[in-house]
Amino acid sequence: MLQWIHDNLISRMPVQASEWAARVDWLNDFITYISAFCTIAITAVMIYFMWRYRRKSETQQTEYITHNALLETVWTVIPTIVCIFVFWYGFEVYHEQRTPPANAEEILVEGYQWGWNFEYSTGKKGSGELVVPLGKATRLVMRSKDVTHSFFIPSMRVKEDVLASAYSYLWFTPIKTGEFPIFCTEYCGLSHSGMLAKLKVVEPEVFQDFINERSAEDLPPAELGKKLFTQKGCIGCHSVDGSAKVCPSLYQIFGHEVEFADGTKLVGDENYLEESILNPNAKIVKGYPPNLMQSYKGQLEDKELAGLIAYIKSLK
Ligand code: CUA
Repeated sequence: MLQWIHDNLISRMPVQASEWAARVDWLNDFITYISAFCTIAITAVMIYFMWRYRRKSETQQTEYITHNALLETVWTVIPTIVCIFVFWYGFEVYHEQRTPPANAEEILVEGYQWGWNFEYSTGKKGSGELVVPLGKATRLVMRSKDVTHSFFIPSMRVKEDVLASAYSYLWFTPIKTGEFPIFCTEYCGLSHSGMLAKLKVVEPEVFQDFINERSAEDLPPAELGKKLFTQKGCIGCHSVDGSAKVCPSLYQIFGHEVEFADGTKLVGDENYLEESILNPNAKIVKGYPPNLMQSYKGQLEDKELAGLIAYIKSLK
């Protein structure tokens, strides 16, 4: 029963997947319980005193009390000790979080409107999915391409702003394999809420194989495109089923007539799709503002670009 109350009402925390997560939660619980105890105790005593020392008659005089040295000492010393303890415990964890071990696996993180790119020590690149080894310290070196973002992995209990003007850092040691969500927690424009990624914790050998494997994307083009559509963050702004999102839906674009803000029209073909990926502002679809999308010029291999076009083509 008490455990249920704790898990469901007091401390609804995501899974503890990093080495320090349990300690972070312990301190959070400790502060919550102390605060709850003080709130209830002080309110109860206040209500009791209001009743106990109420005026009982017109002429009644209460005793004139100036202070009580013992009480005042107790209620000053105990909270001071609690505060010092909370600071000490919090500082220990904070200090650890700021001091990555020298042998940490380093991964570059690039935030952009609206997605995440990753680059591993072998030069292998990826988007939308960050793969890290289990039980090994991982250090992220982060930079933004445009505005300020913030990299947040709740299950690892880490969060750090990602800036355009300077590098920032994060590190953690995963203790559980599995997939965990990554969020952007700095409002960064229209598709901020769609700026998601996935953290994948795998066994160290699997990680080594992963970063050594060259971009052997031997998928059929439309399937490669479908994968990239999620990884590159396209899915945050464009729907593929005709439903409304921030940017035009890509359902039935290919082979169908598209109308633009300047009144011109064309039937969607490969050239139009390629132009829209590499130079999104060249033609603005009617009903949408300009500058919604960044250019993907230089960010896609030829094969990837062809894959995306093949995938969009298949949405009919
Ligand atoms: Cu990036 Cu919010």
